[in-house]
Amino acid sequence: MRPLPLEKHLNLLVGTETADDAGVYQISEQMALVQTVDFITPIVDDPYLFGQIAAANSLSDVYAMGGKPLTALNVVGFPRLSLNLSVLTEILRGGLDKIHEAGAVVLGGHTVDDAELKYGLAVTGTVHPKKIVTNKGAEKGDVLILTKSLGTGIISTANKAGMADAGFLQRAIDSMVRLNDIASEAMNKWGPHACTDITGFGLLGHAAEMAKGCGLSFRFFYSDLPILAGTKEYAAQGMVPGGAYCNQDHFGPEIFISAKVPEAERIILFDPQTSGGLLIALPRSPGEKLLGNLQAKGIQEASIIGEVIQREKNLISVE
Ligand code: CO
Ligand code: CO
Ligand code: CO
Repeated sequence: MRPLPLEKHLNLLVGTETADDAGVYQISEQMALVQTVDFITPIVDDPYLFGQIAAANSLSDVYAMGGKPLTALNVVGFPRLSLNLSVLTEILRGGLDKIHEAGAVVLGGHTVDDAELKYGLAVTGTVHPKKIVTNKGAEKGDVLILTKSLGTGIISTANKAGMADAGFLQRAIDSMVRLNDIASEAMNKWGPHACTDITGFGLLGHAAEMAKGCGLSFRFFYSDLPILAGTKEYAAQGMVPGGAYCNQDHFGPEIFISAKVPEAERIILFDPQTSGGLLIALPRSPGEKLLGNLQAKGIQEASIIGEVIQREKNLISVE
């Protein structure tokens, strides 16, 4: 979208200007639509699980904006010469189950013949126009809460190489199929300043967009980061997706990582996540209450992983 002029309209509340998760369009005093589209290539072999993960990943952008999913459309690229149609049925069944879990309805969709399988959703959600949570409102002194563990890209890469331990893989899958609905609803009660979900740009890529959006710097504490079991070992063995290195090249120059973070584990900070958690900025006191709520609701790995500080030379530092 970058080379094109920015779209401007009276009812357009959030557009493409700050790399936010979804667009927001106001339709009345009380209601705005949150709209997003996302699709991915398979990350697991099982088509039903892949459908669930891809749908959870697509729905997540609505949750990151503080919205509630209302309707969804399936977006499919399918190699009909090489795959049986029953595979597509299973993918769509997985997606449907997640859409229903989110309380949304499928309106239809579109499939094209494609050499590489792809699946995702275009999702429309609703949000009160005064309760939109963007990625740009973080304030100095805010704590940063992450609601899911990192490492899904690295564990999926180990799985593709046939090297992933079954227990580690299962935990990564459990995390990827989990909706961000509970985290989003809990967040909305405490007046979050900013939020985004952690997906393809990895923790530090999405955090960099959030820090740029508010003109401040973020400080993360490496030992406080929730990381999926197996991630550190596989990273040390070089089972890292190419996207992690792209993220490191792109965002690295504005990021300082202290010598306390082991060399081989730094790439975890840039690991592209599928259906990752929410990164939420809010003042410390409500932040601690939100953390208590999240853990009480079964999101055990939710953690305060850093804080928002005045703008420094580095956009982000990790200690
Ligand atoms: Co997003
Ligand atoms: Co997205
Ligand atoms: Co957002």
